[in-house]
Amino acid sequence: MAMVCLSDFEAYAKKYLPKIAWDFFAAGADECSTRDENILAYKRICFRPRMLRDVSMMDTRTKLLGTEISFPVGIAPTGFHQLAWPDGEKSTARAANAMNICYIASTYSTCTLEEISAAAPSGFRWFQLYIHRNRAVSQQLVQRAESLGFQGLVLTADLPYTGKRRDDVRNGFRLPPHMKLKNLEGAFEVCKIISLDPSVTWNDIYWLQSLTHLPIIIKGILTKEDAELAVKHRVQGIIVSNHGGRQLDGGPATIDALVEVVEAVQGRVEVYLDGGIRKGSDVLKALALGAKCVFIGRPALWGLAYKGEEGLQDVLRILHDEFRLSMALAGCASISEIGRHLVQFSKL
Ligand code: FNR
Repeated sequence: MAMVCLSDFEAYAKKYLPKIAWDFFAAGADECSTRDENILAYKRICFRPRMLRDVSMMDTRTKLLGTEISFPVGIAPTGFHQLAWPDGEKSTARAANAMNICYIASTYSTCTLEEISAAAPSGFRWFQLYIHRNRAVSQQLVQRAESLGFQGLVLTADLPYTGKRRDDVRNGFRLPPHMKLKNLEGAFEVCKIISLDPSVTWNDIYWLQSLTHLPIIIKGILTKEDAELAVKHRVQGIIVSNHGGRQLDGGPATIDALVEVVEAVQGRVEVYLDGGIRKGSDVLKALALGAKCVFIGRPALWGLAYKGEEGLQDVLRILHDEFRLSMALAGCASISEIGRHLVQFSKL
C-alpha cells in the first residue's frame, strides 16, 4: 500500500488496530461535532497565493521558545502509545528526534520519562502535566522531567473531568493489564483518571512556577479572556486546543479560535495550535493566522500503528514535504514570509 498522505495512515490504523484501541484514538466527546469541525474549518479558509517570488531555495526552519526545529510541526501529547506500537513512547521520541521537532510527552505515557529520554537523549522534549489531587505526585513528576532535560512544561487546562466519549463507554475501555501508566506507578493504581484535580485554577500556575524553572505552556485555551489571563500569569506559551474534540462538544474549531487568541496576545507570548492538522496546507493556514507552530495528535498515533518509529517518521516527512510545497506554491520561501495576507475566510 503506497502511503501518500496522512489519511492513508488513518485507513491503515483503522483496519489493523484492535477495535477498542482504534475507537479510543478516534473518539470525540458526545456527537463529535467539535472533533469534526476541527477538520472542516480548514476548508472555509482560502489562500491568497503570490506568484513569481523565487522559491528555488526553501527554508522551513523556525524556533520554539528559542530552540530551532526543522519545520513548524510537533507531536501533541497523547496517552497510551503502546496501544499503537509495542515500544510506545520510546519510538515516538526517536522519530521526533530524527526529524528534529518537538515531542510533548503525556503524563499518561506507557513508558517512563526516564525511558523516553534515554531513547533519544538529545531530543527536544516538553512534558505535559495533568495536576493530580495528590500534589506531591505532580510536583515529583515536574521535577523529574526537569532533571531529565525536558525543556518545557505543558499544563493541560481543559480536563477537569474526562469528556464523555461514547464508544469508550460502550467498549468499557481500559488499558490492557500488561500496559501501565508508568509515570504514576506506585502513586496510583492503573487508569485512575478520576484522580485528576478538578479544583485547579489560575493560581496554580504560581505554584508550578515555584516548583520549576522550565517555561510553562498552557494547553487548551480557546478565548481571548483566557489568553489574556495566561499572559497575566506569565506563561511563556499558549496552545490553542480543544483536546481534539474529546472534551466539551460544541466549542469552536481550533483554527477559528486561533484568530481571537492571537489578536488578544499581540505577540507577548508564543501561540501554538493543535486539532485537525491533516495536510501541509493546514499547517500553512495556521501559521498565516498567527500560530508559531502546530502539533499533531491522532496522525502521530496512526504513524506508530503503521510501523512504529519508522511509520511516525513517514507521517512527519509527508507533512514536511506537503508544507514545503504549499509554502512554495503560495510564494513563501521562508517562514518569515508567511503572514495574515496569505489567507481569507471564504463566504461559504
Ligand atoms: C489526546 N490528547 C491529550 N492531551 C493531553 O494534554 N494529554 C493527553 O494525555 C492526551 N491524550 C490524548 C489521547 C488521544 C488518543 C488523543 C486523540 C488526544 C489531546 C491531544 O494532545 C491534542 O490536543 C489532539 O489530539 C489534537 O487533535 P488531533 O491532531 O488529534 O486532531
